[in-house]
Amino acid sequence: MGPVKILANLTGLITRREGKKFLKLSEEIDEAVLAPAGAGGDNGPSLYIHIPFCRSLCPFCCFNRYLFDEEKARKYYINLKRELDLYLQRGFQFSDFYFGGGTPTVLMDELTGFIDYLGSNFRVKKISLETTPREVNRENIALLKKAGINRLSIGVQSFDRDVLKSMGRPFSPEDDAKEKLLMAEGEFDTLNVDFVFNFPGQTIEQFEADVALFKELGIDQATFYPLMASPHKKDAMERKFNRINTSREKEFYDIILRELYEKGYQASTVWCFSRGERMIDEYVVEDDDYIGIGAGSVSIVGGNFYVNSFSLERYEEYISRDKLPVVGWRRLSESEHLRYYLLTKLFGGKVDGREFHERFDADIHKKLRKELLFFRLFGLVEGKEVIHVTTRGMYPVSVMMREFFAALNGLREHCIENQI
Ligand SMILES: C[S@@+](CC[C@H](N)C(=O)[O-])C[C@H]1O[C@@H](n2cnc3c(N)ncnc32)[C@H](O)[C@@H]1O
Ligand code: SF4
Repeated sequence: MGPVKILANLTGLITRREGKKFLKLSEEIDEAVLAPAGAGGDNGPSLYIHIPFCRSLCPFCCFNRYLFDEEKARKYYINLKRELDLYLQRGFQFSDFYFGGGTPTVLMDELTGFIDYLGSNFRVKKISLETTPREVNRENIALLKKAGINRLSIGVQSFDRDVLKSMGRPFSPEDDAKEKLLMAEGEFDTLNVDFVFNFPGQTIEQFEADVALFKELGIDQATFYPLMASPHKKDAMERKFNRINTSREKEFYDIILRELYEKGYQASTVWCFSRGERMIDEYVVEDDDYIGIGAGSVSIVGGNFYVNSFSLERYEEYISRDKLPVVGWRRLSESEHLRYYLLTKLFGGKVDGREFHERFDADIHKKLRKELLFFRLFGLVEGKEVIHVTTRGMYPVSVMMREFFAALNGLREHCIENQI
């Protein structure tokens, strides 16, 4: 095993251990704790909105999702507005919004109605939204543009039919991802395509072909997710995705570095590569604090971590009592908070000592001395004022993020299986 892989495994292991601390949650929430820390608006948290419905459920998916049911989805949007109202009443202001899922486009009239509701309550600056190729058509593109979506992210996962088949991903000729991407290209400030790599059975050649086709299509941004364990263990197919062989993962990652990063694409995060000027990126990196609304969302705000109910019924039950649907929370210790900050900034490629000082009123080189020494010693980061992840450091940081998400997936697994 090469030295970078060994370092990646080590940093990954430490991150998973750190991530697990996030899962030691208190149940009873003192609602006074969930108050806006600062001014809100431009410097305030961003808002993540979870729409957990999909027309079919992909076995590998590690997010909180349910089979689309129109009646349930309409009820869900009513609850979502009420949850947002609870944050409004607490004085929160938001300007950056991120719709994730699930598939937020499954019910367009409710989605656009909800975006109008955001517009009438906030000064909307930026909206990102996830969807899937089967939902992309001229009508939806026009509706999303009219609603003011700035960044559209389409989950392609792979262009390869055999890979899609083994993913259990539904496809048909009219879903031809290539055609859908070209339809959306140029219609939004940023078009992003999601891919998954290191899928069981996926070959390096198949992944190389995915990257080559992405480049050929001339799309500006792609996010490459290393396969992470799926928390849903109902049948053998789904259980398969809990046995992930990470020994080949770096080979896949090296293709991204070779074909994109070394050919002029910028790393917006160690998973997201953009061409041209800086595109709109992930909220996890751009915003230090975010509130998540909807079933199974999490929030990080004011050094606290909050988890919403994953169950649609329980979510509704809380909302019907005008209570935030938070089922667990944790006040992060200083070191947990600082390390989380370091992880998300490294994920975005750099950590700025001045921003750190502004945020924590402390010197990063003192507060995170051991961590930075370790990264520097092994050539994973460089620079003093602004500390950059080196090319050598990118894969270890990718593994750290995967491991952090793996720890959170443990939480999802527990909450989904027990309908918490
Ligand atoms: C929550 S999904 C929403 C996108 C949309 N529903 C779709 O499937 O096209 C966002 C992205 O997460 C990634 N993803 C989902 N499950 C994953 C897993 N188990 N491991 C790695 N990435 C995953 C996929 O790339 C997906 O496009
Ligand atoms: S990958 Fe997308 S479409 Fe598939 S289940 Fe997950 S959220 Fe739904």
